[in-house]
Amino acid sequence: MKTHLSFSNPAELETECLALVVLNTAEGQKAEPLPALQTSDRALQDAARELLSSGEVTGKIFETVMLHHPGGLKARRLLFIGGGKAKNFTAYELRKLAGTAVRFLKPKGIRSFAFVAPEALLSAAQENLKAIVEGAFVGNFDPDIYKSDRKEELVQELTVLAAEKFERDGKSLQAELEQARIIGESQNFARELVNEPGNRMTPAILGRRAAELVRQIAERADGFRITCEIYGADKIKELKMGAFWSVAQGSDEPPTLIVIKYDPVDAPEKPVIGLVGKGITFDSGGISIKPSDGMEKMKYDMAGGAAMLGAMRAIALLKPRVKVIAIVLATENMPSGKAQKPGDVQIAMSGKSIEIINTDAEGRLVLADGLHYARHLGCTHLVDAATLTGACVVALGMVNAGIFSNDEQMFARFRSALRRSGEKMWRLPIDEEYKEMIRSNIADMVNSGGRYGGAVTAAMFLHEFVEGTPWIHLDIAGTAWMEENKSWIAKGPSGIAVRSLVEFVRGFEDGKTETTSLAER
Ligand code: BES
Ligand code: MN
Ligand code: ZN
Repeated sequence: MKTHLSFSNPAELETECLALVVLNTAEGQKAEPLPALQTSDRALQDAARELLSSGEVTGKIFETVMLHHPGGLKARRLLFIGGGKAKNFTAYELRKLAGTAVRFLKPKGIRSFAFVAPEALLSAAQENLKAIVEGAFVGNFDPDIYKSDRKEELVQELTVLAAEKFERDGKSLQAELEQARIIGESQNFARELVNEPGNRMTPAILGRRAAELVRQIAERADGFRITCEIYGADKIKELKMGAFWSVAQGSDEPPTLIVIKYDPVDAPEKPVIGLVGKGITFDSGGISIKPSDGMEKMKYDMAGGAAMLGAMRAIALLKPRVKVIAIVLATENMPSGKAQKPGDVQIAMSGKSIEIINTDAEGRLVLADGLHYARHLGCTHLVDAATLTGACVVALGMVNAGIFSNDEQMFARFRSALRRSGEKMWRLPIDEEYKEMIRSNIADMVNSGGRYGGAVTAAMFLHEFVEGTPWIHLDIAGTAWMEENKSWIAKGPSGIAVRSLVEFVRGFEDGKTETTSLAER
């Protein structure tokens, strides 16, 4: 999708459709809706007057009403999108409205439209523009690529119409638009990877996709170096990644260890941010096999790894002056005569011993070695993302991802990134008291703490391998896959965490040593 920025008079814009936000300005629970058009443009207000007075447009969130041949405008259609209660309206809602507009227009054969930046948020033109562009990209993704009668229904062109008074900031807004496009495209890149079924996204294929991505970026690299190393079983054994290998040993598909290094020439030596992703391309559970009902979903168990690749794509194109290393541990988790068994003891790369209680708790095993390896490569700050536990889905449902941290400053940084990305995550604890739940009689720890507090004990397990390095753990089990269609996003892979990871890394750039106050959210 091409993106443009325009400051032209909305009435004069020739477009297939002009999309306009309508907010409900009525106060109080039971008050009749009081729709307010989010533009100060006279011609737009005139064109909308009759429809607004009809009561058909209320401003209810995600409401869509389309008007054809709007009087006095050059646009062929006018689309009203409800943004909900005016007092609650933020860039978070705006992002979803842009997605809603795209998903409403796409099946109607509309390939190009203009979105009028809403009046209510004019104070933050930059943030608005970002939300509109990112949201539109989210809405433009469809997962039905294997349907033989599939029709390509993408929106090809989006114009964001900003108020004329911002024309003097045109340069910085244009830059913001391009950055938002990169982020939106990178989120969709991650979604493409997650969308592929297990037979078409093996560890080897994931490695190839990563290498291909990096090769394309490296060709045009300017001001930074980017490299991609793809290792197989030999290197994994040589590095003594006993925890990673214990998962991989049961599968006929060879595992891959993906290492991408992004190295800007003028970046300070520190920090070096490590992004560690769980890349289980299919999780059958192994010998502790999962029930067959719903097992097909476990093709998305590499969503954490895909998020890291999507984030690296955006980072290398946005070029923040911060060193970043991404590590993706890719393997299947399968039962076989070679598979590990409950009761087995494995030695992780760090030297710690693990008693395997449940072979289905494999994500923490691959991450244990990934986190240790990241430190080994010099990372000073660690972030991992993983579809780690069903327990996190039980705790937080599909709305918030779980976030854990051992470092308040790092957490504050990430929270401020969440505000900029518009992604929802909720902090869960990693108190020492939970540690006894993963104690083993024979080894340093077991790999499963049982049913209670399952998301927390999984995080406690990872905590054993970060050894005091500032660390964030994202459990995206409930948020990586949309179980149903929404007005703003299709059912299927969500691309969660990509945007937040990018904002987090950008937050480390020179001069941006923000540590937002705890009271902020
Ligand atoms: N990949 C699963 C977690 C998962 C569950 C992801 C639902 C997405 C949706 C993970 O490997 C797993 O199987 N976890 C077990 C851990 C248990 C055996 C301690 C779980 O959550 O049941
Ligand atoms: Mn599992
Ligand atoms: Zn898993």
